[in-house]
Amino acid sequence: MGTPTAPMGTTTTEPSRPVVVLKFGGTSVSSLARWRTIADAIRERLDEGLRPLVVCSALAGVTNALEELLRQAVIGQQEPVLAAIRERHLAFAAELGVDAACCEPELDELSRLATGAALVGEVTPRLRARVLAKGELLLTRLAAAWLETQGLPVTWLDAREWLVSDGRGNDARRILSATVDAGPDDALVRRLSSVSVGLTQGFVASDPSGATVILGRGGSDTSAALLANKLSAVRCEIWTDVPGMFTADPHKLPQARLLKALDFAEAQEIATMGAKVLHPRCLAPLRDAGIPLQIRCTPHPAMEGTLICADAPGGPAQVKALSSRKGLVLVSMDTLGMWQQVGFLADAFAVFRDLGLSVDTVSTSETEVTASLDPTANALDDEVLAELVRRLTPFCRARVTHGCASISLVGRGIRGILHRLAPALELFEEHRVHLVSQAASDLNLTFVVDEGTAERLVVKLHQLLFSHRGTDEVLGPRWQDLFGTGAGRSAKRVVPWYETRRDELLAVALAGTPTYVLDGPTVDARLASLRALHSVSRVLYAMKANPEPALLRRLAAGGASFETVSLGEIRRVREVVGDETFVLYTPNFAPRSEIEAALGLGVQLTLDDLHPLEHWPELFAGRELFVRLDPGRGRGHHAHVRTAGSRSKFGVSPDQLARFAELAAAAGAFVTGLHAHVGSGVLDPTTWPETAGFLAEATERFPEVRVLDLGGGLGVPDRPGRPSLDLQELDAGLARVRQAHPDLQLWLEPGRYLVAEAGVLLATVTQLKRKGDLLYVGVDAGMHTLLRPALYGATHPVVPLTRMGEPGDVVATVVGPICETGDVLARDRRMPEPREGDVLLIGVAGAYGAAMSSNYNLRGLPRQVVLD
Ligand code: LLP
Repeated sequence: MGTPTAPMGTTTTEPSRPVVVLKFGGTSVSSLARWRTIADAIRERLDEGLRPLVVCSALAGVTNALEELLRQAVIGQQEPVLAAIRERHLAFAAELGVDAACCEPELDELSRLATGAALVGEVTPRLRARVLAKGELLLTRLAAAWLETQGLPVTWLDAREWLVSDGRGNDARRILSATVDAGPDDALVRRLSSVSVGLTQGFVASDPSGATVILGRGGSDTSAALLANKLSAVRCEIWTDVPGMFTADPHKLPQARLLKALDFAEAQEIATMGAKVLHPRCLAPLRDAGIPLQIRCTPHPAMEGTLICADAPGGPAQVKALSSRKGLVLVSMDTLGMWQQVGFLADAFAVFRDLGLSVDTVSTSETEVTASLDPTANALDDEVLAELVRRLTPFCRARVTHGCASISLVGRGIRGILHRLAPALELFEEHRVHLVSQAASDLNLTFVVDEGTAERLVVKLHQLLFSHRGTDEVLGPRWQDLFGTGAGRSAKRVVPWYETRRDELLAVALAGTPTYVLDGPTVDARLASLRALHSVSRVLYAMKANPEPALLRRLAAGGASFETVSLGEIRRVREVVGDETFVLYTPNFAPRSEIEAALGLGVQLTLDDLHPLEHWPELFAGRELFVRLDPGRGRGHHAHVRTAGSRSKFGVSPDQLARFAELAAAAGAFVTGLHAHVGSGVLDPTTWPETAGFLAEATERFPEVRVLDLGGGLGVPDRPGRPSLDLQELDAGLARVRQAHPDLQLWLEPGRYLVAEAGVLLATVTQLKRKGDLLYVGVDAGMHTLLRPALYGATHPVVPLTRMGEPGDVVATVVGPICETGDVLARDRRMPEPREGDVLLIGVAGAYGAAMSSNYNLRGLPRQVVLD
């Protein structure tokens, strides 16, 4: 062993003090500010009557620098890197205000080791281990010196005396990825009993001969866990730069919720699935000894973090996290000829083994076995895959599918709660699932889908599984509530109109709430953007979204036509904008009398049923008809708004079109338009070109068709700052269809797109209630005013209009006065603490807000105002 061990401290201790292990990672030990936090944490543990043992990583980036040093040394170029490493530690000593002399012996030895590598021109595993261990040794020397200046009774301990490897494995593994047996160690307990505060290195150990070994990357977590195990610690705390484990990767999904409590098996699953908070190897020693693990955040020491323990709360079954991995390759093995044959799996998987391929997930049936391969664990070039298929061919028909992604739901007892996941699993209705696997451990349910759909599915699934749940013993705040959404990433924030018209809005609210307010210029802008699309000949406003007269006038003035669904809507539009405007009427299960009356008003009728033609053919003689087709595959933000497939009541299914054509001809009607609407709230711009392609195919049966009406459904982001629908891509897709069918016009009939973002709902705070750790903010709007959150789980932004710009200091659930548990407008929103009389603004509410309001509980309808 190259470094002398400091003498054990012999200060104020009594043997009975239980040990607590605190581990600090690279970013947690790299500044004076962080060390102040560490010193505070040590003092708190001492005040608790505990004996802290602090385990540290190297300064951030130093392990990489040491690797580089070795690379340069073999070519004799070690000096510049060596100088940089020295400089880094001297600078840190200066930052801490301690004498750098304490790390000179380690730096000198590092220099000798590098020179040795340069002389022999190679790096043995032993030399590598000694060099890489230097990062932790150097840092802890400086840290011990600084902690002493803070008056803390600290003893520097050489980890190599405390963790001795089992010596198993081949040379490289035994030295560079060493393993240490766990199990209480009375001798170590006795040695530590003379120490008040211990400070030692993570990652570093020795082998039975006393030579330096290392535990592999991420090994500091394992060091802490092993020491906690050997010393029978009461707790192991891992301090890092994030506050804990989250329900999803918070860097991709800022809505991810902090997981306050997990059991070991769940934490192991989440850590193994790729959450980088903990090294998966560190959990077993703690689990085996029943020692709780607490994840804490060094930059935010007051945050409670994640507690991992044997008896975590949360009931027997619950989904706790979602994870997704991209770039998977799927290998399907069709085994029809092998039915009931013994040994097929052994033969097939021997091929994977022989090619060094590690299999990720497997699903099997009588006739097919499908396995997924993770590219991070395998070198998956075309040659290897071709060889795999070649070698599998004697046993089965093998097929390789690239570009897959896995989505995993993680949590205890998933099998028992499958029925509760039904709304979430509905999402898979419209996405191809290649493989489903449910581990026997009952901790993980994995779907393999096309890569392109994975991200959106994760967002949706996360919303369905977690967004409605308040803060409880398992779920904490959202990442974005703790840290914001990373404003630096979105280059330019678009200021929503209501921020610039705040005073006018407050004045409207004074005249009474709940009130919807629409911003005229925003409506004009949205209409103009759709009318600017080259491939769209007509934009019809689906007035069901909001039939406000002033709005209809505005849209008519901007060049919109109208799409209506009832006689009431037809009358409204005729009354408000006159008889000249083109009106399309798209009834669904409307009675004969209504259709007859509508035709009398001169509208263009779209039929979506055979019944009228079969039973009332006389109504249609000599008329031009549109027919609404069922496109077979729905899209949209919620099952209730997807309008296709046999489970949807809309449209004529393609197999009935021939009959429709016959009946129309018999009635003396001409089919001049085909229509389809796949759903609502769709953000994928390929949707409408796809619909157009589908309708264009059906024109073969109807030679008189000149219009393809592609429906509405153009989505808007449910809060400012999210990506919106890419209209240019939509237009480009439609242009391709038009090129193929130049004599067909393409129409769109958007509702939401034109008015959603233009509208807000103003509500007044009536009272505040605290229950458990939830804060309820009561307002005078409710599900009777805005039904979308209750009906679809829709999310609407909530802006504290009265207190705009004040810091958000509470997390609140906004509720209305209706006698229904579902009367919740928004959950878990961070905002400045509201007071009675404050005005809250609920955004993106111009579509299907006022239009769907009701007089439930006889509470009256909201007002609606349009600002010019
Ligand atoms: N065309 C037809 C035939 C429709 O059925 C609809 C909407 C539209 C156009 C307009 O779709 P838009 O782009 O506005 O979403 N209440 C639900 C939406 C229901 C949509 C019904 N049909 C919501 O609040 O999300």
